[in-house]
Formats: sequence, C-alpha cells, structure tokens
Amino acid sequence: MNAVIDLLQSHRSIRKFKDVPLQPEHIDAIVASAQMASTSSNVQAYSIIAVTDTEKKQELARLAGNQAYVEHSGLFLVFCADLYRLREATGLNGETFHQNTESFIVATVDATLAAQNAALAAESLGFGIVYIGGIRNAPEDVSRLLQLPELVYPVFGMCIGVPDQEPSARPRLPRQAVLHYNGYQTDDVRQHIETYDETMQEYYRTRTGGKTVTTWSRGMADKFRQPVRAHVRSFLENRGFKLE
Ligand SMILES: Cc1cc2nc3c(=O)[nH]c(=O)nc-3n(C[C@H](O)[C@H](O)[C@H](O)COP(=O)(O)O)c2cc1C
Repeated sequence: MNAVIDLLQSHRSIRKFKDVPLQPEHIDAIVASAQMASTSSNVQAYSIIAVTDTEKKQELARLAGNQAYVEHSGLFLVFCADLYRLREATGLNGETFHQNTESFIVATVDATLAAQNAALAAESLGFGIVYIGGIRNAPEDVSRLLQLPELVYPVFGMCIGVPDQEPSARPRLPRQAVLHYNGYQTDDVRQHIETYDETMQEYYRTRTGGKTVTTWSRGMADKFRQPVRAHVRSFLENRGFKLE
C-alpha cells in the first residue's frame, strides 16, 4: 500500500546480530524518532538508557535469563518509565508531586510508545530489533546496574543491530479476533482461537522442522497457569511507585 505500511507488516524479531555497533548518527535518528512519539499531556515520562558498554551488556544478557543476543546486539536500549523528572519539575515549582496507578500507567505507556517509534526507525534503517522483557526477571539488579533513581523503572530492553538471520514472519491472530466494530463481541472468541491454533501449529511445525507440535492456546495456558513475575509489584513499590 505504501512504504510505511510495508515496513510495519514486514516486522519480525531478530535474535542474531552481526558484530557491528551502531553509529552515533543512527542512535541519534532512532532516539529522535522515539522522542516524537505521542506522549500523554506532553509529560514525556520515560528515559532511555543506551547501553554500549560490553560488560554491562554481558551482565544484562545474564540478568535477562541468558539471552545472548542482548550481548551481541549493536546497541541495547533500556526503556524506563520515569516519574523522577516529573517530581523534580513539580518541586522546581514549589508543589508536591502526587502519583498513583494512573501516573504509573501514563509513564509505562509513554515509554512503550517511544520504544515502538524507535523500533520502526531502526527497522527503516535496515536494522533488526527484539524487545527484551526478560530484564524484569531481575529488575532490582538491572536498576542498580544502570543507576536508575527512585521513581524510574526498566519497562523492557530492546536489542538493535544488523540482522544475521532471516526468520519468517510470525502469524498473528485473525483480524476479526482483535477488531470489534462498535463493541466487544465475545461470541466467536473461542472459534478465533481455534483458527489461530491451527495456523500456529503449522508455523511451529515448519519453523522447527517438525520438532515442535503445539498451539498458541497451549503456550498461553502454560504461561498463565501460574503468576508471571510476581515480584514486580513489590519491586515497583520499593522504587517509590504508588499503585493506589
Ligand atoms: C514487551 C515485550 C517484551 C519481549 N521480551 C522478549 C524477550 O525477553 N526475549 C525475546 O526473545 N523476545 C521478546 N519479545 C519478542 C516477542 O516474543 C515477539 O515480539 C513476539 O513473539 C512476536 O514475534 P515477532 O516480533 O517476530 O513478530 C518481547 C516483545 C515485547 C513486545
């Protein structure tokens, strides 16, 4: 349809990179694009830590659950939700900073929108990316390593680099499953899941040469039959976020 839509629809996560660091002008273009994402009331409640130091990347790879591509990426960005700067801005004007679950959501959404702009900018330059939520496995250690102040937390990381693999695109849910006109329709939800299970079963079979025979709903059931990263709430409270 057009070049932007083609770019968006050709996304796939890249988990193997050539050993090429990003040039400063590329980093600048990517972060400038991130900064132009929409932001709630212009609060810009996020910060980005660009990790270029090899030892820090190694440590982050380990903390993220031994995801080697963190270490081998050309650049590792950590997107942080940031209420610290807003508290400073409020204090600068002699006011008390009030925060709650709403400001937590605002900061997390702002960080995420900036990240997705960064991802698209990087992909438009021919780089590959993969988000790394794995850094929330050890959010205290990550925060210490990156010297994050109070009221700042790492939402996720992002590997960026020159791709050294060409994975096939991962199919998504049927359009009707995610798009509801004029109100949510629950009637066909299970039908859509079953349709997608068939698609994904075939995708896994092809991608693993027949070794993996599973479905999307099986994967989701395995993931959500127990709490995921239950430590996150107390971590956020320790960092000064008030989830009230
Ligand atoms: C917030 C977030 C966190 C993610 N964390 C990881 C991660 O820690 N490791 C990883 O290999 N992929 C991670 N991913 C990538 C997803 O697995 C991937 O986007 C999804 O399976 C769809 O595949 P695709 O990006 O190739 O289309 C993450 C994606 C998002 C949006």
